[in-house]
Amino acid sequence: MNMKDKPVPTLRSQRWFDDPDHADMTALYVERYMNYGLTREELQSGRPIIGIAQTGSDLTPCNRHHQALAERVKAGIRDAGGIPMEFPVHPIAEQSRRPTAALDRNLAYLGLVEILHGYPLDGVVLTTGCDKTTPACLMAAATTDLPAIVLSGGPMLDGHYKGELIGSGTVIWHARNLLATGEIDYEGFMELTTASSPSIGHCNTMGTALSMNALAEALGMSLPGCASIPAPYRERGQMAYRTGKRICQMVLDDLRPSKILTKAAFENAITVASALGASSNCPPHLIAIARHAGIELSLDDWQRVGEAVPLLVDCMPAGRYLGEGFHRAGGVPAVLHELQKVGRINESCLTVSGQAIGEIARESGNHNPDVIHDWENPLKHRAGFIVLSGNFFDSAIMKMSVVGDEFRKTWLSEPGEENCFEARAIVFDGPEDYHARINDPELAIDARSILVIRGAGTVGYPGSAEVVNMAPPTNLLKQGVTSLPCLGDGRQSGTSASPSILNMSPEAAVGGGLALLETNDRLRVDLNQRRVDLLIDDAEMERRRAAWKPSLPPSQTPWQEIYRSMVGQLSTGGCLEPATLYLRVVNDDNLP
Ligand code: FES
Ligand code: MG
Repeated sequence: MNMKDKPVPTLRSQRWFDDPDHADMTALYVERYMNYGLTREELQSGRPIIGIAQTGSDLTPCNRHHQALAERVKAGIRDAGGIPMEFPVHPIAEQSRRPTAALDRNLAYLGLVEILHGYPLDGVVLTTGCDKTTPACLMAAATTDLPAIVLSGGPMLDGHYKGELIGSGTVIWHARNLLATGEIDYEGFMELTTASSPSIGHCNTMGTALSMNALAEALGMSLPGCASIPAPYRERGQMAYRTGKRICQMVLDDLRPSKILTKAAFENAITVASALGASSNCPPHLIAIARHAGIELSLDDWQRVGEAVPLLVDCMPAGRYLGEGFHRAGGVPAVLHELQKVGRINESCLTVSGQAIGEIARESGNHNPDVIHDWENPLKHRAGFIVLSGNFFDSAIMKMSVVGDEFRKTWLSEPGEENCFEARAIVFDGPEDYHARINDPELAIDARSILVIRGAGTVGYPGSAEVVNMAPPTNLLKQGVTSLPCLGDGRQSGTSASPSILNMSPEAAVGGGLALLETNDRLRVDLNQRRVDLLIDDAEMERRRAAWKPSLPPSQTPWQEIYRSMVGQLSTGGCLEPATLYLRVVNDDNLP
């Protein structure tokens, strides 16, 4: 057949591989893909070319098994008539990337946008898992609006130590206190903490990884039940196969992220986040995904939709169980099922499965009410994030699902002053300063102190550091004071149960009022009014403001400098601001 007689391309990839008007370029595009064995018939068959965005590598151990899962994805794609092309995503390893993995979320996002825009792909399977891999992939899917489906890698098997369930991350915050007080030694510390990670997979706690993969499912971006299947289970490979099959049909149906990522879908994700006791990293990540999808989502939406939702899921760090227990109880569909019973789900939201989320919720059930509670019998009432403001900052969040009875009794139960307290601030300039001085007797840290850390926001510690959950000094730990209230412009690990006031914006590094705090200042926290105020008079505040001089540690790499010049605050998702102006960049490409 003469190329000129061929039909007008209907899939985006055909503009590369089968464009009769540009035979010269078509030859160039086609020939090199043949040198690993693809044939011209395949490339010019008009079948969808499906990318597999591979986040797993030796450097990203939490996602490494995606390399094996990709074979099942490819089988699914082939069986549905598509042609798979796997490619690497910039690695993001939460547990080892220095100075912080948060730097890589936006870098991987940028790289993935360029790949999805610049190569002959009709759809993409996003292989997600470790904390920031999920938002990075979803942000890129939102910006490009290429048909996309999430394949989670799944949590590790549950960790056990001496007969007890222990969760990754969460055990570390506990074990470091034991190490500090001499209850265990270095060997014991290493044995205890590494026992929490018994298999392939991402964190088995309801940390950022499991939370964000659950929210990807709640948003409608993965097949039902995808998030919770433990990485080594056979169902994980089966889910990979079904995901590969499904993306081909999505391409033919032109089912794009813009049809799924609606405001109502984000509201569903916020509701689910509260019910899960999800990571405190979820608000910035979800806001970032929404902004790249062109949806207005703010911390006010988290307060409005999520704060009053009870904690239904009994997983660490807010509860007792881990990923396997959550999965066997029914995972995200079971949570949706419980929320639907009380009318808390926007039912009509479309999902990648082609079903509405309400149908998925209806068809599922809760298999273990001990792990997933119903609305009438929650683990905690009003367990979402409180969004706070004050006289020295615009916004911060507090994760109420991890505020335990002990903390409530010590700090929030003063008669006539319920949910309010005053404390003496101990101020640290970044994590290095905290580690150097936390045991300094001159600070006289006592059981009525609040630990403050600054210089840990998106600009100050580029990326923003997970450091606000600060352990008390050793002398207090020895007295049984295992946590003090903490506050800061950084984040904290999703695996932490620390009662902290986090993500304070604007951060100190850009002149936020947190920069003006001094050790021994008194802070008043009022959770009823959702306020934190610095108890100094206006004149003193003005004096300090006038004396403040910006200072920033130097960037260590070119990317850190570029990142700092463009990044916004955690309250608005920590996005690269210029990138939020680009919406649906391949949308028109796909039109016939
Ligand atoms: Fe990768 Fe927790 S460190 S998922
Ligand atoms: Mg983390």
